[in-house]
Amino acid sequence: MSDKKIAISVENLEKTFGDRKVLDDVTLDVCKGEIFVIMGGSGSGKSTLLRMMTGAIKPDAGKIFFEDNDLSGLNAEEHEKIKRRFGMSFQSAALLDFLTVEENVSLPLKEHTKLSQKVISIIAKMKLNLVGLQGFEDYLPSMLSGGMKKRVGLARAIAMDPEVIFYDEPTAGLDPVVCAVVDKLILDLTQKLNLTSVVVTHNMESVFRIADRVAMLYQGRLLEVGTKDEIKNTSNAIVQQFIKGEIDGPISSRED
Ligand SMILES: Nc1ncnc2c1ncn2[C@@H]1O[C@H](COP(=O)(O)OP(=O)(O)O)[C@@H](O)[C@H]1O
Ligand SMILES: [Mg+2]
Repeated sequence: MSDKKIAISVENLEKTFGDRKVLDDVTLDVCKGEIFVIMGGSGSGKSTLLRMMTGAIKPDAGKIFFEDNDLSGLNAEEHEKIKRRFGMSFQSAALLDFLTVEENVSLPLKEHTKLSQKVISIIAKMKLNLVGLQGFEDYLPSMLSGGMKKRVGLARAIAMDPEVIFYDEPTAGLDPVVCAVVDKLILDLTQKLNLTSVVVTHNMESVFRIADRVAMLYQGRLLEVGTKDEIKNTSNAIVQQFIKGEIDGPISSRED
């Protein structure tokens, strides 16, 4: 990855909520075109780090660069502009039940562009096609399986042709087969659309299926960043225990 351009650069991030230091001196680079996975246990700071990378949360100290833009120093208007270059697939980003599949995918286009309804409809159909949901335009979310809803969410995330997509636990709560399907979609979309993807997960199968590089967060600190093989072969006992899911080791079982 060393010959690759950097998409997002995170430098010495610090964040404290109350008396709890949630991120402690986190530094990493995400390269253009890669799938960068952030793994770690519950409460290790993954979502906070991801949301900081989108500019949604400001760090107490440190910087986040998206190309030449310092996300930690943007005002609301500048942040709105930058955000259009990002796609988000967050756990909480639920579909609107009273809108059809196509209307859900059209939402960002309606909100952020002046395109005609006809053009928006064509784009939404194209995006649905990309996630394998052609023919489902007029369905309501309640008529879809969990996996299909995920696909609609992904189609919506790519509606505005983002350069980076951020995923927060995209496979949480899905059965293993649907999980594999979502992973394949993340891989396909990253390649087909020439995207950079940042994925937070604690699903080890996903990590090793999709990641170009993996970062391990533990109690707000970045323990290790490397390729899948580097992570698999690391001598760090915490990372080893985490990826193998072992009970005994330096990670206390009381820390979720
Ligand atoms: N807005 C917030 N206010 C207070 N505490 C928070 C807030 N967001 C996250 N935290 C705390 O920060 C820690 C890390 O949270 P999070 O980044 O969501 O971890 P993860 O995604 O790895 O499970 C947790 O202890 C959580 O309770
Ligand atoms: Mg989280």
